[in-house]
Amino acid sequence: MILHKFKTQADLDRAAADLIISVVRSKTNAVLGMATGGTPVGLYKEIVKTYQQGLISFKEARTFNLDEYVGLPVTHPESYRAFMQRNLFDHIDIKPENTHVPNGNAPDIDAECRRYDEMLYQQGPVDLQLLGIGHNGHIGFNEPDTELSRFTYKVTLKEDTREANKRFFNSLDEVPTHAVTMGMGTIMQAKMILLVVKGQEKAEILDRTLNGPITTQVPASLLQTHPRVIVMTDCDVQYKVSH
Ligand code: GLP
Repeated sequence: MILHKFKTQADLDRAAADLIISVVRSKTNAVLGMATGGTPVGLYKEIVKTYQQGLISFKEARTFNLDEYVGLPVTHPESYRAFMQRNLFDHIDIKPENTHVPNGNAPDIDAECRRYDEMLYQQGPVDLQLLGIGHNGHIGFNEPDTELSRFTYKVTLKEDTREANKRFFNSLDEVPTHAVTMGMGTIMQAKMILLVVKGQEKAEILDRTLNGPITTQVPASLLQTHPRVIVMTDCDVQYKVSH
């Protein structure tokens, strides 16, 4: 793992955007793993800025999102499809057919999970997987548990995760109880992973992710076993490189 610490979130967003842009510049048909939530909004803005300056094109790029709520109309502003259109896809030249978000309204969710993994296998591996992190160490919607799923699957959201995401909804009742998420195995197939962590309130979970035991109780700790993980944060944490 490589840890980059930034004084400001603006500097962090610019650096994260530059890394993603560099991947697409070096491989025009790059496969990008996308994340949602509050963390990536700033870096998506920086990507759009660079596109609007005519300095990058996403015409051949493909994207796969980590997760999507189950049962939320795709037109709901907080569906991850709507989030991605609003924050990125509507503002760059990526082809709509090249943007993939799990279908949380599929009649057969298990079949949708298999379809998503097969499509990823055919088009992948992901060249750069962007990740945020939940306060309980979840990535995507892989929640702390006694075991984790290798493949994309339907997950029951933990109450603290629903609480953390209710800020985007009118009430907790409106927050879905289930989601489709790439499994840990799917995520770990990526050639490179960029984990972005913002806000000192995530310092503790980031410290556990970087330096704690590798445990399914902190899904993000599995990133310690991945050969190419770049962490960008404004948190004040240290990365221990030995015992
Ligand atoms: C949600 C998303 C995750 C995201 C997490 C943190 O659970 N499914 O992909 O990393 O929230 O969100 P935020 O960036 O708003 O803290």
